[in-house]
Parts: sequence; structure tokens; C-alpha cells
Amino acid sequence: MTKSALITGVTGQDGAYLAKLLLAKGYEVHGLVARRSSDTRWRLRELGVEQSIRFIEGDLADAGSVQRAVIKAKPAELYNLGAQSFVATSWDQPVTTAMVDGLGVTHALEAIRQFSPETRFYQASTSEMFGLIQAERQDESTPFYPRSPYGVAKLYGHWITVNYRESFGLHASSGILFNHESPLRGIEFVTRKVTDAVARIKLGKQKELRLGNIDAQRDWGFAGDYVEAMWLMLQQERADDYVVATGVTTTVREMCKLAFEHVGLNHEDHVIIDPQFFRPAEVDILLGNPAKAEKALGWTPKTPLVELIQMMVDADLRRVGRE
Ligand code: NAP
Ligand code: GDD
Repeated sequence: MTKSALITGVTGQDGAYLAKLLLAKGYEVHGLVARRSSDTRWRLRELGVEQSIRFIEGDLADAGSVQRAVIKAKPAELYNLGAQSFVATSWDQPVTTAMVDGLGVTHALEAIRQFSPETRFYQASTSEMFGLIQAERQDESTPFYPRSPYGVAKLYGHWITVNYRESFGLHASSGILFNHESPLRGIEFVTRKVTDAVARIKLGKQKELRLGNIDAQRDWGFAGDYVEAMWLMLQQERADDYVVATGVTTTVREMCKLAFEHVGLNHEDHVIIDPQFFRPAEVDILLGNPAKAEKALGWTPKTPLVELIQMMVDADLRRVGRE
């Protein structure tokens, strides 16, 4: 029998890759989409899956719309990826961030609890919850210390997922994913901001790149690899929480160097530090330990950062070239 899946955040980076993965596995894929004034489906078109998805209008902040989506899709698996996901914006829109990234998770869990308790649930938790890190390498037992309204909202989402699993026996898992990127990454995030600028500078359309704290370190992987871990979590007999990471951390500065070098340029000739991109509180370093996911799920990261950044620069060179 065809399995049905519902993805919130289907138009985002991860939603697009996950939709493609599930369609390839034979799922009927439903996507919850919030009403927007302009087109948000470009990623689904780039991956060639837009026509195969059954879209359901709804917003995570609107409990009734999430309930109706669950009733309509009757999903065997619900992947809750929808969020206000840009950390910097969470200081400007802390309440929206809390509503969508925090309470939105409860709306999805309540919909399952009331109308479809057999549905397996995936929550998109984040390494941002570790914030001011309490251990050199962060794993499932590392205490959390969020440093942004986004991190705080996501921490609520994480614990309400654990709580509904323990309270009501729902098959609800939380994936604590470290940063993952791709050519479909939003332009506001630092890797894509850099690879897009590198392409523009190389093609003579831009001269400089303005960045904030380039000493920050992140554990960056490829989104295409990470959506496989999400799926694997929901195939386990028991629901659980897993860290998904590469186990390697790199500075923003070094990541920039890799991107510029790929087109034969020196980042020091183009990068300008601009205080407007510094954050009120910073997460200085993240470094994950994915040992549990490796052992229990058989998942390993496949794409090294240098390969990922080159893939992103090449995609941006093609895009900027077409403009
Ligand atoms: P993304 O590209 O920013 O996508 C976010 C998605 O959420 C978009 O489809 C967006 O719709 C949707 N959305 C926003 N507000 C919504 C609302 N009120 N109701 C319903 N949908 C809403 O994010 P991503 O990188 O794919 O990340 C997916 C999830 O993983 C997010 O929850 C993020 O916080 C989490 N996460 C990401 C990373 C990472 O490094 N990428 C790491 C850890 C956790 P529109 O297209 O209409 O805006
Ligand atoms: N965006 C951005 N723009 N970041 C910059 C810039 C800049 O101009 N200059 C330096 N940075 C630094 C940020 O201060 C941060 O330390 C780091 O680059 C990464 O920033 P982002 O790419 O915006 O990602 P993030 O780590 O804040 O958040 C992402 O990863 C989380 C997982 O840890 C997002 O995808 C979150 O949704 C996700 O949960």
C-alpha cells in the first residue's frame, strides 16, 4: 500500500530534498504551504518534483489548519520542518518565531494525538539549542543553552516532542541537526551568501562581500545527506532523539577561503567586516558527535565541506550566468 507523508516547510531547503527522497521511495507526498504573496516553489521546481506534491494550504501558527491537513493527508509520517529558521530574524520577530517554531510544534502534535495517533512524527530540532556550548563535542546528552529567540523557541519544540512521546506514547522523534547547506540554501544564510557573492565577483557583477563574525565555527554538512537521517529516524521501531552532524568544525573565514579559491580568487581581497551582521548574542562554535545516529540508524555524512562549497559555487555561477 502507498504510504502517505505530510511535510510542513515543504517549500524550504530541507522540505524540497525530503520530498524528492520520499517520492523516489514511492510515498504520496503532501505539503503544508502557508499563503504567501509571491512564488515560493522554486526549489521544488529545481528538483523537478513540484507537480508530484499535493499541496494543502495551512499555517503552523493556525492550529485548525494543521488539524485539517492531518485529517486530509492521513499521513503515516509527518515531518515538521516548517519554521522561521533564520536566527538573525528571531531577534526582530521573537513572537512570530515562538508561535511558529515553538507552539506550531504543539499544534502538529495535538493534531496527531487527536486525529491520527498512529502517525509517526519528526521534529526539526537544531544544534542552535546547544548555543553556549556545555561540552566540546555536543551529543544527545549535552545540556542545552540557547542563545537566540530562535534557539529558545526550538528548545520548547524539542521538549514538547519528547513530552508527547512520553505522555501519550506517540512515535515522535527529534532530530538535532547541525548546520546543513546546499545549492537550495536561502540566500540569507552565510554559506549561500558567500557562494552567491563569489559567483557575482567572478563574473564581474559585484566587488565586495560584507560579513559579520567570520571567526564563528560551524559543523556544516550537505542537506541531501541529512534528509536521509530524518527518514531513517521514522523507520525505527522506537522513537528517539538523534544528533546529526559531520564531526568537523570550520570557521566562516575558512569556508570563505574555500569558496573564493575554487574560482581562483583570494577572499582577503573582497571580504569586508560589517558590524551590522554581528548578532546580539553569538553561538561561537558548534561541533557535533553523530555516533548514535551512525550506530543506531546506520547513517553517515557523505559530503565533505570542500565538496559542498564547490557544488554551491558552481550552482551559483550557473544561476548568475543565466541572469
Ligand atoms: P527554510 O529553507 O527556511 O524553510 C523553512 C520552511 O518553513 C519554508 O517552507 C517556509 O515556508 C516554512 N514556514 C515558515 N513559516 C511557516 C508557517 N508559519 N507555517 C508553515 N510553514 C512555514 O529552512 P530549512 O533550512 O529547510 O530547515 C528546515 C527545518 O529544519 C526548520 O525547522 C529549521 O529550523 C530546521 N533546521 C535547519 C537546519 C539547517 O542548517 N538548515 C539545522 C537544524 C534545524 P515559505 O517558503 O512559505 O517561507
Ligand atoms: N547569515 C549570516 N550572514 N551569518 C554570518 C554572516 C553574515 O553576513 N557573517 C558571519 N556570520 C556567522 C553568524 O554570526 C553565525 O555565527 C554563522 O555565520 C552561521 O550563520 P547562518 O548561516 O545564518 O546559520 P546559523 O548557524 O545562525 O543558523 C543555521 O543553522 C542552525 C543549526 O545550527 C540555520 O539554518 C538555523 O535554522 C539552524 O537551526
